[in-house]
Amino acid sequence: MSARVPTSKLRVGVLASGRGTNLQAIIDAIEAGTLDARIAVVISNKQEAQALERARRHGLTGVFLDPKPFAHGSNSREAYDRAILDVLQKHEVELIALAGYMKIVTPVLIGAYPDRIMNIHPSLLPAFPGLDAQKKAVDWGVKIAGCTVHFVTEGVDEGPIIIQAAVPVLQGDTADTLSARILVQEHRIYPRAIQLYAEGRLRIEGRHVLLAGASDPATGSLINPSL
Ligand code: GRF
Repeated sequence: MSARVPTSKLRVGVLASGRGTNLQAIIDAIEAGTLDARIAVVISNKQEAQALERARRHGLTGVFLDPKPFAHGSNSREAYDRAILDVLQKHEVELIALAGYMKIVTPVLIGAYPDRIMNIHPSLLPAFPGLDAQKKAVDWGVKIAGCTVHFVTEGVDEGPIIIQAAVPVLQGDTADTLSARILVQEHRIYPRAIQLYAEGRLRIEGRHVLLAGASDPATGSLINPSL
């Protein structure tokens, strides 16, 4: 995939099903000027999603797209994604950001937006893909957990990794306490990943996302428990 040529402000479409704190982090980064993009539309498959409320509060277009009318037939998920695609195209979306979107996206969307869909997942992928990643990390007994922003491919949580953040897992952590610690980092890395894309600095080569320009590689290490 070749990098985006940043001629105009990136138009992002956010798909969210729930409380929308990652959407909020993206909105906040735009309003703070650290993310040079515009949210063209927020779409949810849940009418009561707090994400829609957040969108409206910030004067953004929020669209509830009911999956029920599409629920029949063997290609219901594809039919729903075609409807999503209509809305995205109507709002001239260039990049899709999945932010707590609880539906699996089909090749209909992936084909229309190849290498132009991002997702955030609350684990250090490829560990703990799928649902309840933080609980899986606690149950497994890992000492370091984290979150990942990656491009979306057909395999769930499998696409090329853009950026990751690590946090320690503390003794006595529950899925909830660990989730809260990870979420703070999610809110830092998702706007950053979108900004890197907006600047045209991301290029995919196979499984690798290459970062152009001045890169600031992480220094130091997270060792837990510390030495
Ligand atoms: C986040 O933990 C995200 O990593 C996962 O779903 C959760 C969404 O949270 N994909 P929010 O709706 O952004 O608050």
